[in-house]
Amino acid sequence: MCGIVAYTGKRNIIDTLIDGLRRLEYRGYDSAGIAVLDKNKITTVKSVGKVQSLVDKITPAMKKELSKGKIGIAHTRWATHGIPSEPNAHPHLDEKCRFAVVHNGIIENYALIKEHLIGKGHKFLSETDTEVLPHLIDDCYEGDLLQAVAAALKKINGTFGIAVISSEHPEQIVTARKGSPIVIGVGENETIIASDISAIISYTDKVIFLNDNDIALIDKDKIDLRNIDNVPVSREIAHIDWDPGSAEKGGFEHFMLKEIFEQPDAIANAIRGRLDESLGTGTLSGLNLSAHDLVSVNRIIIAACGTSLHAGMVGEYFFEDLADIPTEVEQAAEFRYRNPIINPGTFILAISQSGETADTLAAVREAIQKGATVAGICNVVGSTIPRETGRGVYLHAGPEIGVASTKAFTCQVAVLLMMALKFGRSRRLSRQTGIELVAEIKRIPDLVRKVIATAKDIEKVAKKYAQAKDFFFIGRGYLYPVAIEGALKLKEISYVHAEGYHAAELKHGPIALLDENVPVLAMANNIPGKDKIIGNMQECKARKSPVIAVATEGDEEIRKHADDIIWVPECSQYTVPIPSVVALQLLSYYIAKERGCSIDQPRNLAKSVTVE
Ligand code: AGP
Ligand code: GLU
Repeated sequence: MCGIVAYTGKRNIIDTLIDGLRRLEYRGYDSAGIAVLDKNKITTVKSVGKVQSLVDKITPAMKKELSKGKIGIAHTRWATHGIPSEPNAHPHLDEKCRFAVVHNGIIENYALIKEHLIGKGHKFLSETDTEVLPHLIDDCYEGDLLQAVAAALKKINGTFGIAVISSEHPEQIVTARKGSPIVIGVGENETIIASDISAIISYTDKVIFLNDNDIALIDKDKIDLRNIDNVPVSREIAHIDWDPGSAEKGGFEHFMLKEIFEQPDAIANAIRGRLDESLGTGTLSGLNLSAHDLVSVNRIIIAACGTSLHAGMVGEYFFEDLADIPTEVEQAAEFRYRNPIINPGTFILAISQSGETADTLAAVREAIQKGATVAGICNVVGSTIPRETGRGVYLHAGPEIGVASTKAFTCQVAVLLMMALKFGRSRRLSRQTGIELVAEIKRIPDLVRKVIATAKDIEKVAKKYAQAKDFFFIGRGYLYPVAIEGALKLKEISYVHAEGYHAAELKHGPIALLDENVPVLAMANNIPGKDKIIGNMQECKARKSPVIAVATEGDEEIRKHADDIIWVPECSQYTVPIPSVVALQLLSYYIAKERGCSIDQPRNLAKSVTVE
């Protein structure tokens, strides 16, 4: 994620770029920068931190000088490669300062390109993947900016939404997209380019949404649209009628709903470049574990809190089923205080979206103290946990603003599955099984898309039960952690009391609480253990509790045992936790909305718990 803005026109260039960044800051905010072109000179200002840090850095004298420029680009970063720092902030330039680039996305083959360009004498200043772009453009440049950018983009694998300016072409901006959104706002004698319309709608309601592999040259009042193979394309000018406020969330009412709906793309980002289809394994180079290291692991301890802990509970099943490695999940605070037994061969996995949770960080430090090999699974690049573990896997899920974690959970589970596959293939897991699992993992974004498509049906179920005061969520096997996570989602955003239980556990006491006022969410997907969960559903109905089943599409049998059903596409036991939890995220969201709750910032909570 990140925010890109580019402008050419009559308004003050600094005010316009900064205003755009502020409207896009929700997309990423660990560092920011601008580049302004005045005559044939590019000047850049960059800063770590939020957009305000950049504003504070631009003195009145600097602003006066920079405002002479009529064309510029700007970026608010969500780091994926290289910590948040001034050198890593965008825009990035070639060493001759002829080309400045801002980029949203991931360049998978940047290391190879960087090595090649260094061999040709290029000098790099940052750790980012993006910085290869201005150098590549420089390398491809033969007098035509659009052609040079197109040639450079054809050499990269990955995703991009970019804007480029050049001291060789003081009237031009080139923009292009593949996988990361780019919108062109068509104004009166002005053009503004941005990652989404929230930065555009206060200037014009006429926009062009680029498609993948589109590239555009903006030159004064002309827009020349091509595809990356230089074939002219025509894109309609759409008229938007959003009000500026709602567009901050991309048109969604809450960040949480936006992040639920973003999950197909977020999971695709988490998976991208991390599966080897021919070997049938996960790659995950950030683990920095040799084949020998992998086979030397004889025990895994997963330490985490909250939703990340629940993802770890799914991971426990993955590692034991796929890699035969004894695995336990510990609440991080427990782990850090109970003097854990750590032997050679113990591998500690710390899962944390923010990478800053105090108890999880303390668990990492305790494990390191005891000589364990520790890795992090985090979303925020350069946060404390990945810096202290020195190895691990970033989610690439983009900023998660809603306090209730949604896309982080599904991306954590996807990463854990790929990691368990990697460990499994270093042991007894066959190549064929691995290949089948890789194919199943690649289906996950579509599985989630299908659940999201039923959001209106889920909303109907939510409205029916929104006034209940107590809920039970029950599940077995891979869906047991999903039941626990579903209960947490409902609790934290709707303030409704909800308990997640192993389905078999209900009869050992909690069933005493059931009556007609206590709905039960039963995870009844078509995976091993379904016949048992049907028995549990019957136990609940015998106590007059309404039963809402999460079930596999086409499973007509389930209709006999449930009052309401939320359908999830057919998939394997390994992938079923992800589409199933999305159903529960939506159910919780719509119940909270029906109850008029403050969904993005629930009472008493914080997005990152950096205290014990
Ligand atoms: C999840 O919805 C909550 N916001 C909370 O439980 C969260 O998962 C927990 O605080 C852990 O945060 P982390 O993943 O950033 O470490
Ligand atoms: N991959 C680039 C970086 O880490 C861009 C990240 C973003 O989209 O903000 O700088």
